[in-house]
Amino acid sequence: MDLTFQVGGYAKWQAAVLLIPLLENEDILRNNPMLDNGMPWLSVAPAMRDLQTNKGELTLIHGHPDLALSRALFIGLGSANKFTPERFRDSIAQAVRHCQKHKFTTILLPAQLLAKLPCGIERLLEEAVYAANLSLYRGDFLKTATCKDAQDEPEPLPEPILSIGLEDTDPATLNAAALRGQTAANAVRLTRVLANTPANLLTPMLLAARSQQLAKEHGLSCKVLTAKDLQAEGMGAMLAVGQGSSNPPCLIILEHAPSAQAQAKPLVFIGKGLCFDSGGISLKPAPGMHHMKGDMAGAAAVLGALTAIAQEQIPRRVIGILACAENMPDGGATRPGDVVTGLRGDSIEIQNTDAEGRLVLCDALAYAQKYYDPAAMIDIATLTGACAVALGDNLAGLFSDDNDLATRIQAAGALGGEYYWPLPLWPIYRKKLKSEIADICHIATREGGAITAALFLQHFVDSVPWAHLDMASVDWEDKKTPLCPKGCTGFGCRTLLEVARGGLA
Ligand code: BES
Ligand code: MN
Ligand code: ZN
Repeated sequence: MDLTFQVGGYAKWQAAVLLIPLLENEDILRNNPMLDNGMPWLSVAPAMRDLQTNKGELTLIHGHPDLALSRALFIGLGSANKFTPERFRDSIAQAVRHCQKHKFTTILLPAQLLAKLPCGIERLLEEAVYAANLSLYRGDFLKTATCKDAQDEPEPLPEPILSIGLEDTDPATLNAAALRGQTAANAVRLTRVLANTPANLLTPMLLAARSQQLAKEHGLSCKVLTAKDLQAEGMGAMLAVGQGSSNPPCLIILEHAPSAQAQAKPLVFIGKGLCFDSGGISLKPAPGMHHMKGDMAGAAAVLGALTAIAQEQIPRRVIGILACAENMPDGGATRPGDVVTGLRGDSIEIQNTDAEGRLVLCDALAYAQKYYDPAAMIDIATLTGACAVALGDNLAGLFSDDNDLATRIQAAGALGGEYYWPLPLWPIYRKKLKSEIADICHIATREGGAITAALFLQHFVDSVPWAHLDMASVDWEDKKTPLCPKGCTGFGCRTLLEVARGGLA
């Protein structure tokens, strides 16, 4: 979605349609006399008597077509005391989709019309742009035009341009707020595209090539450790995951290092990057297995966030590590019962090859600590079905023994509608990971499986503030929502971006 700005106020602005958010019982014309400057017809339009204010209800009314502002779309927001940014985002998204359906090419949102709403004008302007942009995201990038014709699908409509209306007296902070929304939404779009891309089109090395290309575009540095490099490093846990596939694993390291911060301890984000997770020799059942093309959603979120961090020139050193592999069952694959040695030096007993995420992550955590002296580490992964069972499809699990870090992550996530619920790193359960034959076993029983997975990861963390985000099931949407079609949601990207934007570390 293109974003533009118009200055000068109602008398100067032009657009196919003007958006007017509307609260219950609001006397919109009395509260906003400047509307009369650009749309004098509003005050005499009979349809003004029938404005709907229920949340999500839209009322389109028309003035004379020759006018620079000849249409108004009122967006019902319901009552002020039930107002939330979430409801606001959904309503804006619905309105923008409505405008697209009507083939309106430019949509104007006057920033000052948000001043009356709870939460503050800057915050809501950011959310409005974010929601407008994501409402237009479509997951059908692999459909060809011929197929669309043949299936008689509605023709793909062009994306309208969103224009923010600024008054001469408006501060530059409004401009910046709108741009923040745009940057965040574009990063989430990128995350969705990557996570939705089938595994045959996005192998670990193709993801590395894509990362390098994006790094170049955005001014990040990017280093790729190939399977040979992983071998030389001694990252046997990661290698064990990838060895059953003809597409070799790799570790992708992206760095945003603003010159004044180049020597500072970095914030490190680590993403699980399973381009496909068949389960390996512990093969998954067939139904739903295709979802496992999205088992690199954590890595995609890290990559998306890093592009936005670079674009915004956030004054903080941030490193993104994508731990990528394909978990497949060929004759060279790891067997249940194998013992491997990871970068940290521990021998690890692998009892179930479908618990592969923690193996790539433990080596990535060790690598981050060996080379980067992190101020804090956050890993994000579609790690356990058990977490999905515990928390459902709307909450991600949050594990951390650093309360400050945990609180900041929760707050950062909530800004963009990504919610985390704390789960315990219960020390008594550590003994469940005891192995008879190796230093540690990588799984325990089914019960409490999200917790024991987190405890396994914690074993590889030495006195660095660390949090683990388990987003199995929130990474995937089964039915479309105003901001997201079916498929991968891009979850986590905005959280990581907000963490980097905020005062963390
Ligand atoms: N990628 C899966 C977890 C997953 C499941 C993500 C469903 C999204 C939706 C992970 O690698 C996995 O298979 N975990 C196993 C671990 C078990 C074998 C200890 C699980 O959760 O069943
Ligand atoms: Mn698995
Ligand atoms: Zn997996």
